[in-house]
Amino acid sequence: MEVVILAAGQGKRMRSALPKVLHPLAGRPLLAHVLASARALGARRICVVHGHGGEAVRARLDAPDLVWVEQNPQLGTGHAVIQAVPHLSADSRVLVLYGDVPLIGAPTLARLMDAAERDRLALLTVELDDPTGYGRILRDDAGCVRRIVEEKDATSDERCVREINTGILVAPAARLRDWLGRIGNDNAQGEYYLTDIVGLAVDEGVEVVTVAPDDVSETLGVNSKAQLAALERMFQASVANRLMDAGVTLVDPARLDVRGELLCGRDVEIDINCVFEGRVELGDGVVVGAHCVLRNVKLGNGTRVAPFSHLDGTAAGEVCVLGPFARTRPGTVLADGVHIGNFVEIKNSRIADDSKANHLSYIGDTDVGARVNIGAGTITCNYDGANKYRTEIGDDAFIGSDTQLVAPVRVGRGATLGAGTTLTRDAPPDQLTVSRARQQSYANWIRPARKGE
Ligand code: UD1
Ligand code: CA
Repeated sequence: MEVVILAAGQGKRMRSALPKVLHPLAGRPLLAHVLASARALGARRICVVHGHGGEAVRARLDAPDLVWVEQNPQLGTGHAVIQAVPHLSADSRVLVLYGDVPLIGAPTLARLMDAAERDRLALLTVELDDPTGYGRILRDDAGCVRRIVEEKDATSDERCVREINTGILVAPAARLRDWLGRIGNDNAQGEYYLTDIVGLAVDEGVEVVTVAPDDVSETLGVNSKAQLAALERMFQASVANRLMDAGVTLVDPARLDVRGELLCGRDVEIDINCVFEGRVELGDGVVVGAHCVLRNVKLGNGTRVAPFSHLDGTAAGEVCVLGPFARTRPGTVLADGVHIGNFVEIKNSRIADDSKANHLSYIGDTDVGARVNIGAGTITCNYDGANKYRTEIGDDAFIGSDTQLVAPVRVGRGATLGAGTTLTRDAPPDQLTVSRARQQSYANWIRPARKGE
């Protein structure tokens, strides 16, 4: 099978410089969703008909199985498919999709493909309470499809028909080519209508069959930001339902956003307003508090993330505690039982079992051993303005509060750094190292007073 995706429309109502089909739904361009469904069906070749701004679309989504065809000017949906015809093999079945109808699912399309077997023309249609604006499916007394009439060309009787054309169809390539060569533009909009092939098929005795989608949302198009937002919520609702079916506790399924892949073990709990991006894997019993953003994260069994944490490119082992207000950046690898507390930023660092950095610290480009305690306000000075250097902290070290570790520098096993130390040379194991001006008190000191008092 081969696929033609119509994506030449400008999308004026989006009022955006970004081509419509690149607007994101669940973190991926609209067109990427359509491509994923087409690929799930095993499409041999996918022809994308683009118009204005097509280069940006191609730059973003190009792949070896895609053929990019420009349609300029845009003279209607039939004219759009004609542009793709030279790229189609005569013996294939052709599935026509729309780049701005992103929720179309592979199972629905598989049924449509099956219905199109033996050279039939298969249309995806739905019954709507309000069919305004859509092409109507006209049937004869026996219930057989005769043709499609566009709203603007329809008589008032025809407009009463509630079964509409979603635009998605499957046709045999050779016949499609022939029919498209015969359609005209003598209609209310002066366009070449793809829908006119239905009447031609009927005239030739080709059987026209209809299939309904699994869910009406699969046929909804995006023309405006409001419609985009509505589809986003429908998509997220289905993700939330799948997660709950798999046993995940969502405190409020309406306040969850998954923009990628979220894999959960048993008894995972997710509080409100969390965003998951990229690939996120949560082990058994993981709890994610309210208002967290997790992007490309893997958390081991029993790990808890307290509210308002932002984790990116991070792997944590079992029973860690992160947050509230933790910030971990790419390259963060935490072993088991690690605690990362409020206003602690970790970047490109490994922290071994049972170590803790509970308050107000920056740990960058650092290897931290096991059972290390990092006091409040500890800063690794990893950057000299030109280069970055690593810090090493051995097992069982104790880093006093408000310490600066000026990298490259090493803290030995079991070393203690006194509070306020600025460490510029390695600290030996098992010793106290402190750099601090000696404390003095001045008994006869008098506070300055305001002049004239
Ligand atoms: C079309 C159908 C109508 C159906 C409706 C479903 C025709 C003649 N009518 O109507 O029966 O109910 O879709 O939404 O097919 N496009 C191009 N090039 C063009 C024109 C359109 O690529 O020259 C693309 C658009 O980007 C869009 C899709 O085709 O993705 C549909 O175009 P649109 O103008 O929305 O079609 P309608 O006239 O609404
Ligand atoms: Ca439309």
